[in-house]
Amino acid sequence: MKAFKSVLSRGMLIGIALLVFAWQGPPAVAQDSVNKAIDAKFSKYDGKLPLWAIQPGTAPRMVELTIYFNNMWFGAQAGNWDLARFEAYRSEETIKGVYVVRAKRTSTLKPWADYALPALIKAIEAKDKAAFEKAYDAAIAGCNGCHAGSGGGPLKSMAAFKITRPTTPLFSNIDFKGK
Ligand code: HEC
Repeated sequence: MKAFKSVLSRGMLIGIALLVFAWQGPPAVAQDSVNKAIDAKFSKYDGKLPLWAIQPGTAPRMVELTIYFNNMWFGAQAGNWDLARFEAYRSEETIKGVYVVRAKRTSTLKPWADYALPALIKAIEAKDKAAFEKAYDAAIAGCNGCHAGSGGGPLKSMAAFKITRPTTPLFSNIDFKGK
């Protein structure tokens, strides 16, 4: 009886194994909802997940903006409009990351990005130095306006970071005249 039972259960196990083997995997609809759930996890910031938590927040993007605005200025001063154009493009790109990882900054950052950067790009594409300087000053006034009204880390206001026209290029190994 004992031996019969073990033969039976072994037979059942083999049967289950065969069924599993014959099964062609989960139905497409279940796979679809798994994919959707994964997409949702990758699409919405969740600081509890390490992969999200290690993404650069606002401050590292701000450091990038500072670099791009420095390069942009010296490119424009040297009449190297291609270099300036690239830095304006990089500024647009780096800001997009903030909208994703720090959505609460969007309401203050986007209005700035949507007026300051297109004005710079317009002047750069027109190779118009006077218009560029005007757009540049307006853009950095916007940096400072936002800093005055925004907190960050331990600070209630970022007014400590006053942005100006640069006086020195950040990179001595770039020849801003180009070509
Ligand atoms: C949304 C409004 C806003 C605008 C516009 C803005 N900033 Fe900022 N900036 C912030 C905030 C908020 C922080 C603090 C971020 C944090 O705590 O992660 C910051 C921080 C900084 C820092 C300090 C970063 C560090 O890690 O030391 C610099 C430098 C900076 N911004 C430069 C700029 C420049 C240059 C511009 C314009 C070209 C600019 N910011 C435009 C809101 C803004």
